[in-house]
Amino acid sequence: MRDGTKKQLRYFMIQSNKSTESIGRALRSALSNGWIRQEDTAVIFYDIAFLESRIRYLISCFPPNTLHGFAIKANPLARIMKYVKGVAPNIGVEAASTGEVNMALNAGYTPGKIVFDSPAKTLADIDFALKTGVHINVDNLSELERVKTLTGSSTLTGSIGLRINPQVGVGTILESSVAGDYSKFGVPLNYNRPALEQVFLSYPWLTGVHLHVGSQGCPVNMLIDGIGVLYDFVSEMNSKRTSSGMSPISVFDIGGGLPISYQTEAPAPSMEEYVKKIGERAPLLTHSDTFKLITEFGRWIYTNSGWTASRVEYVKHDPSINTAMIHVGADLFLRECLNPRDWQHEYSVFDQNGMLKNGSDDHSYNLAGPLCFSGDIIAKNVRLPKVEEGDFIVIHDTGGYTFSMWSRYNSRQTPRIIGYNEDHFEILKERETMEELLRFWE
Ligand SMILES: Cc1ncc(COP(=O)(O)O)c(C=O)c1O
Repeated sequence: MRDGTKKQLRYFMIQSNKSTESIGRALRSALSNGWIRQEDTAVIFYDIAFLESRIRYLISCFPPNTLHGFAIKANPLARIMKYVKGVAPNIGVEAASTGEVNMALNAGYTPGKIVFDSPAKTLADIDFALKTGVHINVDNLSELERVKTLTGSSTLTGSIGLRINPQVGVGTILESSVAGDYSKFGVPLNYNRPALEQVFLSYPWLTGVHLHVGSQGCPVNMLIDGIGVLYDFVSEMNSKRTSSGMSPISVFDIGGGLPISYQTEAPAPSMEEYVKKIGERAPLLTHSDTFKLITEFGRWIYTNSGWTASRVEYVKHDPSINTAMIHVGADLFLRECLNPRDWQHEYSVFDQNGMLKNGSDDHSYNLAGPLCFSGDIIAKNVRLPKVEEGDFIVIHDTGGYTFSMWSRYNSRQTPRIIGYNEDHFEILKERETMEELLRFWE
């Protein structure tokens, strides 16, 4: 490993979350340079240098020929997709719909860098994907038959894999665990082994496998178990395929799901360790050219580089709790509002000039969004220094699975989104205009 890379590895083993101090510096700079206007009741920020060094670190952990298909669902901003593409040549995308495939093509990704996963592909979706030449991960055996019909005898420009559920269990977050005995995704291996053997030994064009164990909440050992189970199955299939003159399965897509840290005191597992464990359990994946390895990280790539600042509109005082009314709620933080036990961020308070409030005068607050339902509270009973009207509440680690899940309920305008690198700021997406909002509902 090169010296520079080593330095970055150490950096990430120490710091996986952005510090409150660095967020404060950026907030003050944005305020004093007019990047946060009066109408910007909330703004989403991305630290681009942080994002880039994270990606470089990821690439340094995996074999160089790995295709890193960043999950678009975690962050579909076109400007970000274009930017990350330029960081390294082996960066691609994982697309969950034909919409996302088109967004990727639009952002300049070539079909060979696009991995198309969707559990409900129509015939038209499959036809489009085959003609475009992307890598398709087929979700189930019925879909595989559709692919077979559509491919006929024509030559494939892309490649085709099958999503297999290794059935290794669920993590701490049920809603984002997809490798239990039951999952709506993929073909469960234990229940379908003969059928799986049959398709892999009959279809020479079926040259890939795909798994995704879950997103956040799945321990590293569970992710490794999933890879291991599939690796054993593939090894067995490959010895049978090669002895009958078929080409081996050569694409191994391990999905995403490495957990990140949302709390500074709870560091995330290290990517370097994860890859080491993959190599120990499934050596041909990381120590040979036998397989083209694909990853599909989303949360790990984006989340820690983003944060959101919302002005405090009002503060209400009840005998047992205070409520800070802010400008982002379940529209931006869907999971946090609907499933608060599993999704918690860190929060900081800054005054209207961007100075951190960190006095001992702390109180309990509910951070309530602006939407018309009582569950629109992004966090309950948060201990914070005294919050006042006009302050900014910063929600940390919001770079993934937030804006991509934006809800139109109550028709609030989407916030301005800003990227920055030290003191250089640029708008990644402008605050939605009233005209755009009206057009949405037409
Ligand atoms: C098929 C698939 N791949 C990749 C991902 C990305 O997971 P994560 O963002 O946790 O890395 C997901 C997330 O739901 C997924 O469903």
